[in-house]
Amino acid sequence: MSVRALLALAVLSCLLSAAAPKDVPSAFQSPYSDAVDHVNPLIGNGGESPNGSGGMIPSTAPPFAMTRWVAQTRQNYVSVTPYNHSETSIHGFQGTHQPAIWMGESGQVVVVPGAGKVLPKFEDRGMQFSHDNEVVSPSYYSVELNAIEGGKILAEQSATSRVGHLRFTFKGTSAPYVLLEATRGSVIGSNNPNNLTYPEGSVVINPETREICGSNPERQDYIIAPLTTPAKKWSGYFCARFDQPFASYGVAQNGTVSQGQTSGNGSLLSGYATFGSTNLQVNARVAVSFISIDQARVNLEKEIPDGRHLEETARQTRAAWAEKLDRIMLMGATTDQKVTFYTAFFHTLQYPYEQDEYGKYYSGYDDSVHEGVSYTGYSNWDTFRAEWAWLILFAPERIPGMVQSMLQDYKEGGWLPMWKNVIGEDSAYESVGTHADSLVAEAALKGIKGFDLDTAWEAVYKDATVPPLLDNTTVYGDRQEGVNYEVRAGLSSVYAQNGWVADDIHSESASRTLDYSYDDFAVSVLAGVLGKTDEQAFFLNRSMINPFTIFNPATGFMEARKANGSWAGPTRGFTEGDKWAYTFDVVQDIPGLVAHKGGNASFVEFLDEHFDGGHNDHTNEPSHHIPYLYSMANAASKSQARIRQIAESNYNSSINGLSGNEDCGQMSAWYLFSALGFYPVSPVSGEYVVGTPFFDMAIVDFPSAEKKLLVLSAGAPSRPYIRSLDINGRNVEEPVITHEELVKGGLFLFEMSDSPQAWSSGVTAGN
Ligand SMILES: *[C@@H]1O[C@H](CO)[C@@H](O)[C@H](O)[C@H]1NC(C)=O
Ligand SMILES: *[C@@H]1O[C@H](CO)[C@@H](O)[C@H](O)[C@H]1NC(C)=O
Ligand SMILES: *[C@@H]1O[C@H](CO)[C@@H](O)[C@H](O)[C@H]1NC(C)=O
Ligand SMILES: *[C@@H]1O[C@H](CO)[C@@H](O)[C@H](O)[C@H]1NC(C)=O
Ligand SMILES: *[C@@H]1O[C@H](CO)[C@@H](O)[C@H](O)[C@H]1NC(C)=O
Ligand SMILES: *[C@@H]1O[C@H](CO)[C@@H](O)[C@H](O)[C@H]1NC(C)=O
Ligand SMILES: *[C@@H]1O[C@H](CO)[C@@H](O)[C@H](O)[C@H]1NC(C)=O
Ligand SMILES: *[C@@H]1O[C@H](CO)[C@@H](O)[C@H](O)[C@H]1NC(C)=O
Ligand SMILES: *[C@@H]1O[C@H](CO)[C@@H](O)[C@H](O)[C@H]1NC(C)=O
Ligand SMILES: *[C@@H]1O[C@H](CO)[C@@H](O)[C@H](O)[C@H]1NC(C)=O
Repeated sequence: MSVRALLALAVLSCLLSAAAPKDVPSAFQSPYSDAVDHVNPLIGNGGESPNGSGGMIPSTAPPFAMTRWVAQTRQNYVSVTPYNHSETSIHGFQGTHQPAIWMGESGQVVVVPGAGKVLPKFEDRGMQFSHDNEVVSPSYYSVELNAIEGGKILAEQSATSRVGHLRFTFKGTSAPYVLLEATRGSVIGSNNPNNLTYPEGSVVINPETREICGSNPERQDYIIAPLTTPAKKWSGYFCARFDQPFASYGVAQNGTVSQGQTSGNGSLLSGYATFGSTNLQVNARVAVSFISIDQARVNLEKEIPDGRHLEETARQTRAAWAEKLDRIMLMGATTDQKVTFYTAFFHTLQYPYEQDEYGKYYSGYDDSVHEGVSYTGYSNWDTFRAEWAWLILFAPERIPGMVQSMLQDYKEGGWLPMWKNVIGEDSAYESVGTHADSLVAEAALKGIKGFDLDTAWEAVYKDATVPPLLDNTTVYGDRQEGVNYEVRAGLSSVYAQNGWVADDIHSESASRTLDYSYDDFAVSVLAGVLGKTDEQAFFLNRSMINPFTIFNPATGFMEARKANGSWAGPTRGFTEGDKWAYTFDVVQDIPGLVAHKGGNASFVEFLDEHFDGGHNDHTNEPSHHIPYLYSMANAASKSQARIRQIAESNYNSSINGLSGNEDCGQMSAWYLFSALGFYPVSPVSGEYVVGTPFFDMAIVDFPSAEKKLLVLSAGAPSRPYIRSLDINGRNVEEPVITHEELVKGGLFLFEMSDSPQAWSSGVTAGN
């Protein structure tokens, strides 16, 4: 069959397999998108404990939106999301900025419909609902609530990047009202819901313009921000505009309602408006800003002007998702697999999120407003692995702004961000390493233009050469409060002690040594792109030598070392992983690692021991690249078997279908790359290692490519092993694809088999 005929068949089969999303009203299902119809935003919300959960919420918003809107079943804080599928009451609809379950909320606003007595307190206002009356999609959400004094409230929501569009239909209720919660008790510190502070905000009500606006300076993670960037002026702002006249209005403070009051300042503060009759429909457009109430109003008028219907808002947001998700078409995937795949795709296009507002942005790094594009929600320690490579492929138009945004952070705060949450909650987070270096270098290597390369070099060079303040006396422990920018804590000892971070001075010392070595490699790659040959050689050398300063030949594992060179013990110095995962953590020099482990055959044995011994923990990032390493030691068929097994046991279309925290898209990026058949093991190498494509065919329409990519792997669903690979007529013998080759598109023709093949698998052939 010709390629053209296969393409036609694929299109046909996709059209035929369109799964009508459960219960989404047809007015909200346009434009047509088979891919969007397969997204289930509930995936990743389940889980037995906070850390067993994917940490995802069924939110509505376009890709990379500043604010995501979600039904609120509980108060969110570090490790707790605002929506939990097993809970049975909804307490409002939250415009949230919490980027990942491990990070805190900031500047949120909550919109609460009600009927009868005005109930501002979270614990009083919850309304029962059933999942049977809930419709969940990326661009439209609705739920029917049982109003407290009787009757029903149909709540519907959609959103643009900076404006939530909510529509409440009151059916047979007593006096309808809508309340805007500005401030609440805020949980600070981790995991102690009783440790509250009371941020002080404001509300202003204008019955003539039908507006309730205000501010909320809540920022749950401020305690782990660097000391030098307290961001004292930080606040979230909001402005809600209604389409119905107010019958009455008022302000509520700490549960006390003052009818007729038009403004208030302080803690536990809300504003509300009541509406004339029952059986009424109220539209509320709720804009947010990090700059001012006036700016929120500008955002409102730009994104959802007066008179726009919810249907139109939802269609626009759906179209934005369709433009992205329709870029991959699958053939040979079951409905469950398509749901898993397209939901993963949806998850990868949420972060970093927009922080600028029509040419301006608030920077917490210097506490002032600047001109330009800005993003936040950078979980670099997770996303440098594969999520960033995925964004480069599928959101290339965003990359210059995302990189430039980090360079602005550098200019305003002195360093590139590590884990930017609204502003620089960077200090002492468990994620070690300055992986912004990798993001910047990868973008430059892959030819992305539109950011300032001189500043980029200055910033990564500083990461690689300047230790943080008080480096010899500050531990920079996990979530340590009251310290400065963590950056490469322990870099002083790298210089002083022949290459490793001293375990008797710093936490997470072995992980740091390995992360910094990789980051040195990224710096050398950027130096190479810029023609700085001396620096390129210097950092390349350091990236190749330093990792092995902590390789203990007596045990065959990486092991932390003290300042004086003695070994610190096999369990010391690792973060979010152990000696098993971290011994494989030299992605920039796998041949060097293989040599340290005694060559391909014994490296493969070591990998077997790792997997068979249950040491691979795919729920956390340090393990993500490991199954691909067999392919780099001439045992590709073993990679193929492991990858399929990991995909099956860690991803599915159920609410528990993510085995680990999504971490701003990295969990999903692993699945997506793996399903297509390759993975960026060393992200700044410009290469992908071949794994095993999951489906019969994938047609990929990269936004920046000359032509479509056709991954043809007939029989793949039941045949995990590769017999041969041909790329546009090139017979591929090494399991490596270059970025250049990928974005050229054309035909990647895999011949698949149900038994292990000799292809790139000399070690295991006949085994
Ligand atoms: C969700 O709520 C249920 C019931 O309250 C609880 O058992 C479960 O641990 C929660 N899930 C998460 C991820 O917090
Ligand atoms: C998982 O959550 C529990 C309960 O909150 C906590 O005690 C434990 O330390 C967490 N484990 C990890 C690995 O974060
Ligand atoms: C509350 O959180 C603050 C900030 O993390 C911390 O200093 C304090 O010890 C915590 N108090 C309790 C009772 O947990
Ligand atoms: C109260 O809030 C309003 C609106 O944000 C603000 O203009 C005013 O300065 C605030 N007053 C005080 C005393 O904080
Ligand atoms: C709210 O009111 C209660 C009494 O109803 C009081 O104990 C509490 O301190 C008040 N909280 C704040 C933050 O004012
Ligand atoms: C830390 O100590 C090392 C010697 O162990 C020294 O070379 C370095 O300058 C010190 N760094 C700082 C920031 O004090
Ligand atoms: C590489 O680094 C080692 C250790 O610092 C040094 O001895 C060696 O001269 C360096 N080699 C090059 C080519 O820079
Ligand atoms: C290194 O320092 C540790 C204490 O931190 C000490 O127990 C050990 O004997 C020292 N080893 C050497 C070789 O000096
Ligand atoms: C080890 O495997 C790599 C990658 O497949 C291959 O290039 C190399 O030649 C192998 N080495 C030996 C000694 O077989
Ligand atoms: C779905 O995936 C989760 C997380 O990996 C797992 O716990 C669950 O058992 C899987 N469910 C099914 C039906 O495979």
